[in-house]
Amino acid sequence: MARRRMVYEGKAKILYEGPEPGTLIQFFKDDTTAGNGEKHELIEGKGVLNNRLSEHFMTGLASIGVPTHFIKRLNMREQLVRAVEMIPLEVVVRNVAAGSMSKRLGIEEGTQLPRPIIEFYLKNDDLNDPIVSEEHIIAFGWATQQDLDDMVSLGLRVNDFMSGMMMGVGIKLIDFKIEIGRAFEGDFQRLIVADEISPDSCRLWDVETGQKLDKDVFRRDLGNLSEAYTEVAKRLGVMPRQNGSNDGPKLVH
Ligand SMILES: Nc1ncnc2c1ncn2[C@@H]1O[C@H](COP(=O)(O)OP(=O)(O)OP(=O)(O)O)[C@@H](O)[C@H]1O
Ligand SMILES: [Mg+2]
Repeated sequence: MARRRMVYEGKAKILYEGPEPGTLIQFFKDDTTAGNGEKHELIEGKGVLNNRLSEHFMTGLASIGVPTHFIKRLNMREQLVRAVEMIPLEVVVRNVAAGSMSKRLGIEEGTQLPRPIIEFYLKNDDLNDPIVSEEHIIAFGWATQQDLDDMVSLGLRVNDFMSGMMMGVGIKLIDFKIEIGRAFEGDFQRLIVADEISPDSCRLWDVETGQKLDKDVFRRDLGNLSEAYTEVAKRLGVMPRQNGSNDGPKLVH
C-alpha cells in the first residue's frame, strides 16, 4: 500500500490525508504530555482507549444533532474525520472549579460553580495557550462574534450531553476542552466539534469517591493512567473486544 501523506504531527495525534478530498485520518498515539510537553511519557494503550472514547462521545453527540467531524472508526488507533479549518481557540466549559481556574482565581478545587462557565484559550504553544477574552478574539480576528455565539452554544450542548452521559455511569464531568472547526458546505459554512473528546481533555471525578479518572492522574502522579481510562471505557461499555468489533454484547474483562 502506498504510504499515506502525513499532514500534521501533534503531541497526541497524527493527521494523515484521508481517502477522499475533505477527509483526514486521525491516528491516536500513546504519547501523553502535560505542561505544554514538559512532562512526556508513552502510556501503552492510551491511544486505543482515546480513539474508542472519542468515537463514543462524538457519535452520541451526532445522535442528538450536535455536528462533529467524526465519520467512522477505521481500526484500533485511527478514525476517519472531516477536514475542517480549525478555529485557533480552545473552548473550555467548567461546572466545578479545578485546575488553572482554581489556581488563577483562588477558588478551591471542587467548588460547584453557579452555572457553567466558558473560557477561551488561544492555541499557541509558544505562548503556553493563554486565556483570552471575547474582546481579544474579535479584535485580533481569531473568530467573529457569530462564531463566538455558535461556540458558546456548542460548548453548552456538549456539556449537557456529556454531563448526563457521565452521570449515568457514576462520574461527574468537572470540566472539558473542545476544539471547533469551520466546515464548508457549498456556499455555506458551519462550526462543528473537531479534534477529540476523551479523558485527555476532560476532568472526570468518581461521584462516590471523588477519584480522578482523567489526565490529572498523569499530571499529578496519582497512579495508573491507563487503568483510569479503562475504568471510564468499561463503565460506558466501550471496552475494545478482541476482534475489534464494537457490536453486540459488551465483553467486560
Ligand atoms: N477535523 C480536523 N481538521 C483539521 N485539523 C484538525 C481536525 N481535528 C483536529 N485537528 C487538529 O489536529 C491536531 C491534532 O493533533 P494533537 O492534538 O496531537 O496536537 P497538539 O500537540 O495538541 O497540538 P496543537 O493541538 O496545539 O496543534 C490539532 O492541531 C488539532 O487542532
Ligand atoms: Mg491537541
